Amino acid sequence: MQFGRLNHVGVATSSIARAREHYAKLFGGGAVGEPFDLPEQGVRVCFVDAPNCQVELIEPLSDASPIAGFLARNPAGGQHHLCFEVADLDRAIADLAATGTRVLGSPRPGAHGTRIVFLHPKDMGGVLVELMEAPDGGH
Ligand code: CO
Repeated sequence: MQFGRLNHVGVATSSIARAREHYAKLFGGGAVGEPFDLPEQGVRVCFVDAPNCQVELIEPLSDASPIAGFLARNPAGGQHHLCFEVADLDRAIADLAATGTRVLGSPRPGAHGTRIVFLHPKDMGGVLVELMEAPDGGH
């Protein structure tokens, strides 16, 4: 088992448009990417490049989105998940079974175009964790 680099911190927001303006003031407009939809996950996302990792702004596409539930509990928005890179997602999932860490669902395409899974927050100290397959993950 070898988790790699922190890739991004997921931040739920009710308005990516407003959040983008704010982050552009903090990191510079060039650091703020274009928003795009992930309909299969029910969200619209936008990445902000911090020098050492990214912030993933996440807005629900509908009331059925899991992010809508999060925002109902956290109306001002808030930190939603951490994402760590792994070199081989299937191997990481197999190794996690031995640690008693529950994997939520099956691997699916993530916002970066590589496969992801989420880990149960109750097994991660209360933090929702995303694992993302990255070619150079683990380094
Ligand atoms: Co993420």
